[in-house]
Amino acid sequence: MNDLEGLKEQALKELESVKSSEELQQVKAKYLGRKGILTTALKKIKEIPPEERRDYGRRVNELKSLIEEKLREKEEEVRRRELEEELSKEWVDLTIPLKNTVGSLHPLTLTLERIVDIFTGMGFKVEEGPEIELEEYNFDRLNIPEDHPARDMQDTFYVSKPGYLLRTHTSPVQIRTMLRQEPPIQIIAPGKVYRRDDDPTHSPMFHQVEGLVVNEYASFRHMKYVIEEFLREFFQTDLPVRFRTSYFPFTEPSAEVDIGCVICSQEGCRVCKETGWLEVMGCGMVHPAVLENCGIDTEIYQGFAFGMGVERLAMLLFGIDNIKLFYENDIRFIRQF
Ligand code: FA5
Ligand code: MG
Repeated sequence: MNDLEGLKEQALKELESVKSSEELQQVKAKYLGRKGILTTALKKIKEIPPEERRDYGRRVNELKSLIEEKLREKEEEVRRRELEEELSKEWVDLTIPLKNTVGSLHPLTLTLERIVDIFTGMGFKVEEGPEIELEEYNFDRLNIPEDHPARDMQDTFYVSKPGYLLRTHTSPVQIRTMLRQEPPIQIIAPGKVYRRDDDPTHSPMFHQVEGLVVNEYASFRHMKYVIEEFLREFFQTDLPVRFRTSYFPFTEPSAEVDIGCVICSQEGCRVCKETGWLEVMGCGMVHPAVLENCGIDTEIYQGFAFGMGVERLAMLLFGIDNIKLFYENDIRFIRQF
């Protein structure tokens, strides 16, 4: 009987010091297992004098229930502690900033947005046209005759459907706009264009932004002001700019706009082909034949137009010396913008 009291004390003390589920299993086996102390104690009942057996059995069973109950409590406690430990080991700090995993806009997208922002700020509306274009709009109505070199197979990507091609410039959007809309017109048309070109400053696919203004008073002076103002805004500085006499079938007079090469500070390099200048756009007064091709009365209206190369402007803005970098999607390049 006194043994049982001592046993109870010992068991409770051992249970109290249990720290892990492993230890818990050991204590459980020690007292309640098949060869455990209490199991053995119950078996010993036969050796107890008959008059004490009842009392002995009751007390062993009481002790057994007590230990079982304490084991359950302890089990609960140990499991909770172990789960907490587990969780604290796997803790993830959600407040650590994610480095270099956030995407950024492509330099061409940034450049296009910059161009569009400046012109919409001047009151231009944005128009768009298809990349697979009618030959009629890309050439005929723009006063580009059948035998003009720009129509040559070397420059133009034709598609299998007769009368269609991949537009070689954004100028057909001029035609689409004038056919749809009465003057006054003041639009820009950004988009992709295609040519059989390939060198450090020419790509077979590139981007242009077209501009068209048609009203009763548009003049070359007005055009020059708009372009110079645009370039000043775009580069946020006064770069050398020159208007060089040129020829386009759809404008008269025509000019090309060059900018001092920022890659070499006009010293001469491979980008400016040693000239110190880079051509960024063509422009001119809309040829009366083009206005007439779109049903616009040339007695009342006149217009000017321009078309700029977005890659060229981006190269100058960011100091990039090869147009191919825009299309290779090399993360080391892209990440810098
Ligand atoms: C034209 O495409 C005319 N449509 C521009 C125009 C519009 C003139 C309205 C008058 C009135 P051009 O072929 O020069 O012109 O091209 C315009 C600009 O596109 C060039 O100044 C150059 O910056 C860019 N460019 C031309 N070819 C390529 C190419 N292969 N890769 C990248 N940029 C190019
Ligand atoms: Mg040109």
